[in-house]
Amino acid sequence: MLRTHTCGELTIKNAGQTVMLCGWLAHSRDLGGMTFIDLRDRYGITQLVFNMDTNKELCNQARKLGREFVLRATGKVTERSGKNLKIPTGEIEIIVDKLEILNESRTPPFTIEDETDGGDELRMKYRYLDLRRTPLRNNLLQRHKVGRAVREYFDSNGFTDVETPFFIKSTPEGARDFVVPSRLNPGEFYALPQSPQTFKQLLMVSGFDRYYQIVRCFRDEDLRADRQPEFTQIDCEMSFVEQEDVLQMFEGMVKQVFKKVRGLELPVFSRMTYADAMKYYGIDKPDIRFEMRIADLSSPLSSGRGDGGEVVRGKGFKIYDDAELVGGICAKGCAEYTRKQLDELTEWVKRPQIGAGGLGYIKYNADGTLKSSFDKFFDEASLRKIAEKSSAKAGDLILILAGPEAKTRKALGELRLEMGSKLGLRDKNKFECLWVVDFPLLEWNEEEQRWFAMHHPFTSPKNEDMALFNSLSPGEDKDKVAPKANAYDIVINGVEVGGGSIRIHNKELQQQMFKVLGLTKEETEQKFSFILNAFEFGAPPHGGIAFGFDRLCSMIINNEDYIRDYIAFPKNNSGRDVMLDSPSAIDEKQKKELGLK
Ligand code: AMO
Repeated sequence: MLRTHTCGELTIKNAGQTVMLCGWLAHSRDLGGMTFIDLRDRYGITQLVFNMDTNKELCNQARKLGREFVLRATGKVTERSGKNLKIPTGEIEIIVDKLEILNESRTPPFTIEDETDGGDELRMKYRYLDLRRTPLRNNLLQRHKVGRAVREYFDSNGFTDVETPFFIKSTPEGARDFVVPSRLNPGEFYALPQSPQTFKQLLMVSGFDRYYQIVRCFRDEDLRADRQPEFTQIDCEMSFVEQEDVLQMFEGMVKQVFKKVRGLELPVFSRMTYADAMKYYGIDKPDIRFEMRIADLSSPLSSGRGDGGEVVRGKGFKIYDDAELVGGICAKGCAEYTRKQLDELTEWVKRPQIGAGGLGYIKYNADGTLKSSFDKFFDEASLRKIAEKSSAKAGDLILILAGPEAKTRKALGELRLEMGSKLGLRDKNKFECLWVVDFPLLEWNEEEQRWFAMHHPFTSPKNEDMALFNSLSPGEDKDKVAPKANAYDIVINGVEVGGGSIRIHNKELQQQMFKVLGLTKEETEQKFSFILNAFEFGAPPHGGIAFGFDRLCSMIINNEDYIRDYIAFPKNNSGRDVMLDSPSAIDEKQKKELGLK
């Protein structure tokens, strides 16, 4: 070994020892008579000292070194006079008597500090330097711990890790496939898996019973903070189980991982139906760290649901009279919002991403009086009724949106999150885990005028909705309520970290599913005969789930949904690897060989 210790382990207990350390020059301070160097490695930072009086030549050598030079220093561990109690090695320093330059470094293009001056693209280009920074390094070290805890859990619960191929035929998961041309089969392509869905089901037919894999998946979709074109799943499947068994098993996994990585004991996870999530939170992945539920201030016109809550209609205010839905949220303690703050919120809801036409409000003042943006149409008694419906108290502000039901609920959901953030209700130290259950099996796509699988086509309908499911035909039943599915998502603080379902394991039912989705017999045969055949050879009842490993890591480690910082070499927002400059053109010869010309 070139070193006796790392830069993170020497303490006052080692005082007097002669040691050898290797690392990168993080900082140097030249004080004339003395030069100090902070030597950094993965484990920490240790201060090296060079003294002009005792070793002039060495001190002069040290003064000339640049940032990020790779050094080996030999010297004596000594108690420091000015201690830095913020770091474990802060009570000692090394009085260096031998210094070797193991390698030089160009001046790095950005400072390698916790708070760096480098822009995103620059840091992506020099990702290997960015990974020297403590926050990113810690993320990856913690990610390793999450992976280890996951594997330990599966191991102790009898799961087998099985690898599945990357060169496959397209699996329909809703996104586009990345494809790979086959040289040996000109004009033909492999697809990279969007998930190992069908393979894990086939492994159940093979009798593996409990399978897992931490596996790369590929999806050609628009990128966001919580999406990468290649990402990692913790993919799992179990035989002879019902939904409840799956929820219990994987709730156990998440709890164990939080315990091992963060030392946190999570309480029993909450549960909510998809219908309630949409109704009260306007989204299928509610952040339940705070309440602020959406209140229906009108009975939605289309559904004809009369719940006695007709508190906004019939006052001559056309917008509310005509809107399919008028909904509100109550921002606690915000009655004092100024004109400017309300204008800003109005601008915010009008942005194209939110798409609301405007924002109504009622201030429930601390003195009990009420003031609204639509005072012309509503007397105080009517406003009080709305306040009651919104569970508002004196001192609160009610924010109101109106419009088509689905769009308005979604916009209210977004506004709720925005207000939650503004009011500091999305506590970084709080974790609220939630199972969202009873997803619809199908959703109607207006553009294509057909049903789509909400999760994927292998998800089973709920038993009680089987008759409804069997009554569906491909393109005609858009007004029918979709049957419910044995499908569930796991949501942590508003981030969908995983999703799964109990699967169809019966050939006829699977064929019916493909039919409802509009696939012809020929298409079904061509795309799915492998799995339909397998179902003829004793497929057991089975179900499972897949977690987004990157998302789970970003949530557990820092309670955020920006996954790029938890992936060693991620792509940028346009799906490019700016370090490799990929994707890139290939040469003509290669194209020809692949039959692409
Ligand atoms: P699903 O498509 O819901 O289910 O994916 C499972 C989880 O994977 C994560 N995820 C992503 N993470 C980062 N970047 C992406 N582009 C991305 N896409 C998805 C999410 C999501 O919850 N085969 C089914 C699972 C099953 O039924 O067992 C599947 O893939 O956290």
